[in-house]
This record gives sequence, structure tokens and C-alpha cells, in this order.
Amino acid sequence: MIIIGTLRLESNLFLAPLAGYTNLAFRLVIRRIGGSVLPTTDMVHARGILEKGEGSVILTKSCREDQPLRVQLFGANPDEVARAAEWLASEGVAAVDINMGCPAHKVLRSGAGSAIICDHDKAVEMAAKTVKTVKIPVTVKMRLGWDDKNISAPLLAARFEDVGVAAITIHGRTRAQGFSGSVNLDGIRQVVQAVKRIPVIGNGDITKPEHARQMMDYTGCAGVMIGRGALLNPWIFLATRAFLQGDTLPLKPLPAERVEYMNFHFRTMVEQFGEYQASRCFRKMGVWYAKSLPNGKAFHRSITMVESQSHYDEIVAGQLLPYLHLPEAEWPRGKCKDVSLPVPAGPNSMW
Ligand SMILES: Cc1cc2nc3c(=O)[nH]c(=O)nc-3n(C[C@H](O)[C@H](O)[C@H](O)COP(=O)(O)O)c2cc1C
Repeated sequence: MIIIGTLRLESNLFLAPLAGYTNLAFRLVIRRIGGSVLPTTDMVHARGILEKGEGSVILTKSCREDQPLRVQLFGANPDEVARAAEWLASEGVAAVDINMGCPAHKVLRSGAGSAIICDHDKAVEMAAKTVKTVKIPVTVKMRLGWDDKNISAPLLAARFEDVGVAAITIHGRTRAQGFSGSVNLDGIRQVVQAVKRIPVIGNGDITKPEHARQMMDYTGCAGVMIGRGALLNPWIFLATRAFLQGDTLPLKPLPAERVEYMNFHFRTMVEQFGEYQASRCFRKMGVWYAKSLPNGKAFHRSITMVESQSHYDEIVAGQLLPYLHLPEAEWPRGKCKDVSLPVPAGPNSMW
């Protein structure tokens, strides 16, 4: 159990916000499998919410089964972030997270994301105003700092706690690191030690239950957040929970079960975004499912070109259904092309 402000959550495992992926459909897949109990949406621009921009509001779309939900806001203006949080709270959102970690150039240029942590007073003002404006818990997600010479997260975490922030998620990398190198557990530990009461959630590179255990033991963090590991394996929360509790690990899901979740995922995306956009967005998601399915190589090739619901059904019927009953040793040969998330590599000044 973990307490985040007024929320008592039965699990300390969290689905990370992944722009372009953590839409309603994926969150429902994770919840149905038995995963994160407080997933976070993709980051949504605060001004977009205030102006009721279609692109922003659609990202906050939810349903009864998708509760409680945390929406992540980003923005450069503390008033806008606070007012956007107010609207979200009035719509029934359970918690608001403020993004202070995005390293993407176009977000930084607007003064949001990681750029905020360069101005400590403004970062604290943004958090404080938002906390004062809403009754729901306000949390912050950030990186360790701008670069190795400017590790600001411990100091900021303590100031955020003082103004009423209910929890901190810390990705154990600096903004300059982008996604390169490995996650800095010492850095996460410093943030844990900097706060008095609020939970600190550790984040970065967890793709196996053992990684979660290691991060929690080494840093003392109260829970972990998993991003890319959940795309690779949506069952990771279930397995991690069992592992942390010392229970027997659940069996790997059968291919038929994976396909059932994938079908649900696609259908729900069509309901949320319409057939055209859903098909295009699903192309990058389907390749993750392909990795653990029989005939995955051929399926991978086809799903990257999916055009519509009927085309999707055709691909599944032709390339997966005939093979689902086969034992793994008899799966058609051919390794599925390795997929990785399109994270920018190296120096990120050009992102
Ligand atoms: C494609 C992609 C999109 C992301 N979008 C967001 C976002 O919207 N908000 C955010 O705070 N972090 C975002 N992140 C960072 C992740 O939430 C997480 O901090 C990072 O991937 C490290 O965790 P992981 O190793 O478990 O993936 C994104 C990362 C990736 C790869």
C-alpha cells in the first residue's frame, strides 16, 4: 500500500507516462491484466487544456474502468498549469502530475519540461500554485537535474514537499543524458533522503521484476514507475507485484491471451481516435506485441502498414490465428526484428 495525498493505493507500481502510447486503450490493457493502479496519461499541455484544444482534451479521455487516473500536465506558466489542474479536478481526475523532466527540444524551447528545473523558484511556484488551487493530490515527475554538474532534484524535492506536493517521481538520469547510459541509483537515493514524509517513486530501466526489487532496496524508494518495460511486456506489473510479495510468479500468458488483449487494445483505440488515426498510431504498438507472438516476423511486417479495422482483422486472421495453437518450438521461424522505442540518442540539443 502507498499513500499519495488523499489517495490510498494498493500497489506501489506505476505505469509511466509515455507520450504516444499511454492512451486510454493501453491503460485499460494494463488495468485489465492487473497492473498499475494509478497510471498516468501522456503529458498534456496546460494551455491546450484551457483552450479545450481537441488534441489535448482527447489525451485526457477516460472512462469508469480507467479510475483512478492521474493526468500529467506540462507548461511554462504556473497560472496556466494551476488552472488546467483545476479543470481536470472538476472533471473527476484523481491526481495531477507536473512534468518537469521532458528533455525534448521543442518542449524546452517553450520553457516547459526539464527547462523548469533551471529556475528553482518558478518550479516551486508552479507546484505551490497548483497545490493551492486543487484538492486532489499534486505530484511532480522530474529528472535528477540538467546535467552532472547541476543535480537539483534533491533540493527541489525538499522544496516541493514543503509546498504540499504529495509525491515525487524521479527518473534517475539528467536531462543531458537523454536516455543514454544507465540509471543512477545513487541519485535516486539522494532524492529519497532529501524528503521527510512523502513517497518518492523511482524510475528508469526497469524491465524485470528483479530490477524493481534492486531499485527499491538500494534507494529506499517507496515504489517504482515502469515505462518501456510495460510496452515490452504489459504483464510486467503482475509479475513484479508477485515477485515483491514473494509469491509464485504468474505463468507467461499464452499467445491466444496476448492476441485477445491486442484486439481489445486496437478496438479501444479506434473508439478513442477513429479508425484512421488509431490504425496509424497502432502501427508502432503492434510491433511490441509481435515480439512475443508466433509468426511474429510476418505479423510485424504487416502490422506496420495497418490501415483500418477490417485490415487489422485480416492481418490477425491470416498471420496469427493459424499458429496460435502451436507449441513455441514449432512456431514459424524467423526472428522478429528487434524493436526499440524511438528515443533520441546521444547529445540532445537537437531533439
Ligand atoms: C516514447 C516516450 C515518451 C515519453 N513521454 C513522457 C511523458 O509524456 N511524460 C513524462 O514525464 N515522461 C515521458 N517519458 C519518460 C518516461 O516516463 C520514463 O521516465 C522514461 O522512459 C524512463 O523510464 P523507463 O526506463 O521505465 O522507460 C517518455 C519516454 C519515452 C521513451
